Amino acid sequence: MSYTSLIHQTNQPLILWISARNFAPLLSMPVAELQTGKNDKSHIYNHMSLFEQQSNEFIPRHIGPRETDVQAMLKTIGAASLSELVSQTVPPAIRMKNALNIPAAMSEHEYLQHIKDVSLKNKVFKTYIGQGYYDTITPSVILRNIFENPGWYTQYTPYQAEISQGRLESLLNFQTMVSDLTALPIANASLLDEATAAAEAMTMFFNTLNKQDHIDRPKFFVDSAIFPQTKDVLITRALPVGIEIVEGDYKTASIDSSFFGAIVQYPNDKGSVEDYKQFIADVHTAGAYVVMATDLLALTLLTPPGELGADVAVGSAQRFGVPLGYGGPHAAFFAAKDDFKRSIPGRIIGVSVDAQGNRALRMALQTREQHIKREKATSNICTAQALLANMAAMYAVYHGADGLKNIAKRVALLTQTVAETLEEMGFELASSNFFDTITVKVKDAAAVHAKAERQQINLRKVDNLHVGISIDETTAVGDLYDLINCFENDTDPVSFDIHHDAELDHIPSSLVRTSVFLTHPVFNTHRSESQMMRYIKSLENKDLSLNTSMISLGSCTMKLNAASEMMPLSWAHWSKIHPFAPVDQAEGYKFVIDELSKYLCEITAFDACSLQPNSGAQGEYAGLLTIKAYHEANGDHHRNVMLIPISAHGTNPASAVMCGMKVVVVKALENGYIDIEDLKAKAAQHAANLSGIMITYPSTYGVYEETVKEITDIIHQHGGQVYMDGANMNAQVGLTAPGLIGADVCHLNLHKTFAIPHGGGGPGMGPICVKEHLAKFLPGHVEVADSTKEHAVSAAPYGSASILLISYGYIRMLGNEGVKAATEYAILNANYMRAKLDGQYDILYTNHNGQCAHEFIVDLRPFKKSAEIEAEDVAKRLMDYGFHAPTMSFPVPGTIMIEPTESEDKAELDRFCNALLSIRDEIRAIEEGKADKKDNPLKHAPHTQAVICATEWNHAYTRETAAFPLYYVTLNKFWPSVARVNNTHGDRNLICTCEPMESYMEA
Ligand SMILES: Cc1ncc(COP(=O)(O)O)c(C=O)c1O
Repeated sequence: MSYTSLIHQTNQPLILWISARNFAPLLSMPVAELQTGKNDKSHIYNHMSLFEQQSNEFIPRHIGPRETDVQAMLKTIGAASLSELVSQTVPPAIRMKNALNIPAAMSEHEYLQHIKDVSLKNKVFKTYIGQGYYDTITPSVILRNIFENPGWYTQYTPYQAEISQGRLESLLNFQTMVSDLTALPIANASLLDEATAAAEAMTMFFNTLNKQDHIDRPKFFVDSAIFPQTKDVLITRALPVGIEIVEGDYKTASIDSSFFGAIVQYPNDKGSVEDYKQFIADVHTAGAYVVMATDLLALTLLTPPGELGADVAVGSAQRFGVPLGYGGPHAAFFAAKDDFKRSIPGRIIGVSVDAQGNRALRMALQTREQHIKREKATSNICTAQALLANMAAMYAVYHGADGLKNIAKRVALLTQTVAETLEEMGFELASSNFFDTITVKVKDAAAVHAKAERQQINLRKVDNLHVGISIDETTAVGDLYDLINCFENDTDPVSFDIHHDAELDHIPSSLVRTSVFLTHPVFNTHRSESQMMRYIKSLENKDLSLNTSMISLGSCTMKLNAASEMMPLSWAHWSKIHPFAPVDQAEGYKFVIDELSKYLCEITAFDACSLQPNSGAQGEYAGLLTIKAYHEANGDHHRNVMLIPISAHGTNPASAVMCGMKVVVVKALENGYIDIEDLKAKAAQHAANLSGIMITYPSTYGVYEETVKEITDIIHQHGGQVYMDGANMNAQVGLTAPGLIGADVCHLNLHKTFAIPHGGGGPGMGPICVKEHLAKFLPGHVEVADSTKEHAVSAAPYGSASILLISYGYIRMLGNEGVKAATEYAILNANYMRAKLDGQYDILYTNHNGQCAHEFIVDLRPFKKSAEIEAEDVAKRLMDYGFHAPTMSFPVPGTIMIEPTESEDKAELDRFCNALLSIRDEIRAIEEGKADKKDNPLKHAPHTQAVICATEWNHAYTRETAAFPLYYVTLNKFWPSVARVNNTHGDRNLICTCEPMESYMEA
């Protein structure tokens, strides 16, 4: 509806709209200023036309503090206005001069209309493309209660185990499901996609059989019949670290002691089910390892990789109820033999006990791999695909082994029917052994595809003489008419026979699965929807998510994930698009991808963008590869030294090593700034081989270093490039930009700054933006026609494309003023909390004006000496107050880092501050000898309901103090479901699948 017609409908004279337009200079006033009342802005807001107010309505929904609170908050901070605070915080030399050139805000309603219109540019065809992506039926109970439920999707990674037992249990179910189906004992939860999971397996084998400084076995065998996108990602990962990829036919390959490993696909790229038993034995004889890329649904009918002798199995769990979404997000799986239990990449959920001796789950040791091992880490995986792993696990809980087998049998029977019908019609198949995929030899593939397109069907484009068909659980018997018709002339009627009880003749008898799987009760109990709904809810209730209270995790930016941003993800026109669908069927996605890329370039002050990396760490890796490729294109193959400040996140050095770089650590000063003298010395020392520097801005200490331009200049003077880790971008948008501080490339964590929810540990997106000179080195993709580009870093061309909608919606609904206001309010909220806590706690780093950026670090180390209280005690005690702990011991051990984000209102900030101040009083009581050093509420935190209600209570403090320390807690108590978890017990006795039922029984 146009404005004109709206005005006429509401009987407003046209002149009103015209006068509102003439108000433009006032209306374009930053919203932050509009809300603060400076220059009597509220007055101006009141003078906005009704329609302008409507368009801007999302801004105060996303931003927490109300106009009336701002003055009080500024008073606490000691700043006269928000703009004064921002000026005291962001160094003037790097301030953005102009407003961002992105569209003005849209109301939520307008946005939903708009994104619906855009979605209709996508064409939903019946797809038989396969190649690792299959249409699937998400059970509605899972869709509604997990995928669309903030109680699940707003959770953080389960580092605080006591308030994460629900998702930990679900992720343990995922591991059990993967372990059972692959017949390999250890599985993680989860990896980013199938291709990168294969690359992780390759790297793990490589590191196991080679020494850091000496490569004995450089070769990795790749069977020609693995998915092309997997091959491409393997090549990307192999080149920088000196792995030699040898491609060939596994049947004729000769593997000797120069090989460290091999990969085969099962069923393979053409759909053929091959028996790899002998090949695996031969590889083992040569002392090397085998990874099988495989399909969980197929494994319900096929002999699993573990029983064939494989060392590792990888693949995607997408077809277990997770929508296609033009490439993601989906959970990849990774299962391995026991020998690899200490080197598996990613997060592993393990079983341990709590302080009461009860079973409790937590993430096992590997989880902190990069934080502990930094450049010695073997993988940079941090954010993974937890939410999607949970969905896939619930799909298995919902269907159980028999249900899954039935789905697989239906798929196999339909495939068999199509195959046999086509054979009867005279077509030849690439293989007679198959599960869900066949490759058909044709005279003219283009003609078959043209006919398919007329029927709104996508077949796989293999080459001019071959067409691929993959059947999935959404395919019904009736669909086969149109499918077979693609291969018919237009005159003969289509006919086929299907016998429901027919034998599956095309699964070789030697590879028929005989072993049982999913026997654990969890996969055999929740069959009715009531049971399923309650199971999901019971897990959700154990977890603290953003719909309970703020999660102030420094460096993680747990902001609002608005309902309007999330809703379109469930719409078929977004969710049912295959990542390799013809581009003319994905014009809606193209629109969003192009627009979002443009906005991100504008926000970063860069020139080009790749939306392929599907996590922050993947962005680091992709960004460093562009730097590497740039140096190599200049003939500087030797430039391989990456300077990384001591304060950097662990993924930074881990990513640099993956790119074959040498990490040189730069020191920090007492005030948290990069030590410029050390930097100068190291840049000069390594000038000849300098590749660049990785910086985080504002620094991980939560300060905008005034010296940042000097830092970037030093690197450029020595021929290096500057990589900026965008984790702290929430302190930059609209105020400054990576391009303005002198960076050449950065990644953006869309799951932080741009509102994608954390999903309990993923999904995320880590696109990279670059200056023009790096643009031609951005990742390419085998399925995207652009031969000038590099190899891929992810399985899908645009990573987890469907969640790009969330960031797109965030930017469109906030508009150019709103995104900047978000940054300003993030700074306001952080400084307000800092000011409230200052004096009671030591705040570690601030700038020369005493201000922090969008986060700040609270030092808890002094309490170790004064009261024997550790950071962990404070973190666990916060749970009794109904809060998730801030980031613990990063970047400084013994501290917490608080990042409130702009989305929290003053009342919530006050509640959190009051909780911390009350905890400070509890510590003081210990310091003053009024409370016992061992028997106090901090040391025994968190307190469960069972502990509080037990007949016995032997503590020196009351139950009320333990469970209801402040009045607000009594109004809405969140109960941790287990007491403090014993981490070392779990690491010593690694159990990462559901244990037999006896272990759940009470002692
Ligand atoms: C500073 C910093 N860099 C990099 C990362 C890694 O990002 P991701 O978890 O998306 O891989 C994080 C994650 O929290 C971070 O805080």
